[in-house]
Amino acid sequence: MNIDVFTLFPEWFGWFRGQRHVTNALALGHTLECVDPREATPLKWGQVDDTPFGGGAGMVLRVDVMEAALRARYGVDPVALRERRRVIALTPGGRLLDEALATELAGEEAITLLCGRYEGFDERILEHFTSDQVSIGRYVLAGGELAAMVVADTVMRKLPGVLGKDESALEESFSPALEGAPEYPHYTRPAEWRGWRVPDVLLSGHHERIAAWRREQSRRRSLP
Ligand code: ADE
Repeated sequence: MNIDVFTLFPEWFGWFRGQRHVTNALALGHTLECVDPREATPLKWGQVDDTPFGGGAGMVLRVDVMEAALRARYGVDPVALRERRRVIALTPGGRLLDEALATELAGEEAITLLCGRYEGFDERILEHFTSDQVSIGRYVLAGGELAAMVVADTVMRKLPGVLGKDESALEESFSPALEGAPEYPHYTRPAEWRGWRVPDVLLSGHHERIAAWRREQSRRRSLP
């Protein structure tokens, strides 16, 4: 899978690229690349944003700058690009990221994530260049970078072979294996601490009973 992130702060992703599941994904041939719109801007002094028409606080990412950056990267009109690959703007009001959306995105060959800053994007970017808008929650971040990392994190860990076998993503919260329910509780040594005992069934070595107990715990956690 190829993930391109358009961001004015590519250096922020240096830390993210060093995380183990990300390095695993990169070693398997997947890519995560940052594109800085400032490098392709047709404007002087590296300008990428401007004050909003009609007045108001903050700065808005310019449509001409985003078009130049997308054209420089992909060599096609960005209006046509979104037919070929998902071009996703990170916005507070977009489709809420959940496990189903992460699984859907993990099935794509390539995605592009656009990070807004300040007051966000000129609306024409959203209308004409993007296929989706995604939000990581109904709150406003200072920019889309952290949201892009959240999307890339949850998508990359779903790619086959990215997680070690000890960290299988098969039976985790919200997975089909748990019928979309939260995960069951986990315990490790010591079996007792300050009188808090691990449930006996988990120490029984009885695999079927353990599996049934876990399913029941998971089901209970999904109740309102
Ligand atoms: N940009 C600013 N806030 C955001 C959010 N909550 N989700 C995605 N992108 C954002």
